[in-house]
Amino acid sequence: MLKLSYMETLYSEKERSCVLKQLPGLLLPWYDRCKRTLPWRENTDPYRVWISEIMLQQTRVEAAKEHYIRFLRELPTVEALAACPEDKLLKLWEGLGYYSRARNLQKAAKIIAANGFPETADEWKKLPGIGDYTAGAIASIAFEQPSPAVDGNVIRVLSRLLADNKKQEQLKKMFADELSFAYPEKRRGDFTQSLMELGATVCTPASPLCLTCPLFSLCKTKSDALPIRKEKPQRRKFYKTLFVFCNGTRLALYRRTEGVLKGTYGFFSAERKMNAAQAEDFLRRAGLKNFALGAPLEHTHVFSHLEWEMTAFAVYTNEDASRLTLPEGENTEASFSELFYAENTEIEREYSLPSAFRWAKKCLIPIR
Ligand code: ADE
Repeated sequence: MLKLSYMETLYSEKERSCVLKQLPGLLLPWYDRCKRTLPWRENTDPYRVWISEIMLQQTRVEAAKEHYIRFLRELPTVEALAACPEDKLLKLWEGLGYYSRARNLQKAAKIIAANGFPETADEWKKLPGIGDYTAGAIASIAFEQPSPAVDGNVIRVLSRLLADNKKQEQLKKMFADELSFAYPEKRRGDFTQSLMELGATVCTPASPLCLTCPLFSLCKTKSDALPIRKEKPQRRKFYKTLFVFCNGTRLALYRRTEGVLKGTYGFFSAERKMNAAQAEDFLRRAGLKNFALGAPLEHTHVFSHLEWEMTAFAVYTNEDASRLTLPEGENTEASFSELFYAENTEIEREYSLPSAFRWAKKCLIPIR
């Protein structure tokens, strides 16, 4: 049983709906005073709102800001996005992760360019990459629809406000239903954003700023005691050894053709952990003769359901790595023949090198 602050009792069902109906009156004036200035809040153009909500699905506000500005500068309209070459799109997405978001954006852009922007959350949900939360957010912010957007932030705010200790998945559906009756007649998009904003800046996961909260007097929890934490996902671990073949100022890359990083570029990797002696032996068995191996560099990259524990070696050689052959008994992500060389400056400009591989450039002696 959850311990409430002071001598509080839980809200009855009727009180609960009254409390939710008071939210716009309390949150909108607070939002006007305290909201952060963010680039996607300059106006409510549907293209801009849509791009921001997709970026913010799995990326923190601070990390999304610069990407957002660059993305809109390069692709200012839905037509420009629909016509963008994949390499350019994925380069613009570099560093944001979850690259399927960019591919889905483009699929949806082609549909929108032909049919126009949907207005309701139900219509938005028919587009690739749009779930309940994103559909609600876009429809309310860009089209003033009374459609709630309930994500982890909003679940945190409302579960604390109402001292509701049910599991997060259950709360998500319940809060979306209950909130839809609390939407104001005007400023519906701002109401959606005020709930998100409170979760992001005041009702934070740890150490919430309860004394500055506009909902303090109504809140039954007044602490970080809720929501019940989700179980951490069990991630499968994979070991990899990355070889960054370096010839002067050129590096060997391959284009990934499958999986979550499809369409992005990576460094050659063998599917096991190797120390320097094993790495050297691997390369000799692959047919490399004259080379120098850099010192090993280690890094773990965490994806949502799996993690890669990697060791990277710079391999300095004038021999062509794409002509090597896979040694017996070894597994690699790509074959040597898929490798091609690109100037480091060209990689920075044109090839999307996701964070899962980008770190490995640090194992190189700086390229001038
Ligand atoms: N997270 C998701 N959508 C957001 C928005 N519009 N503003 C700030 N944070 C968000």
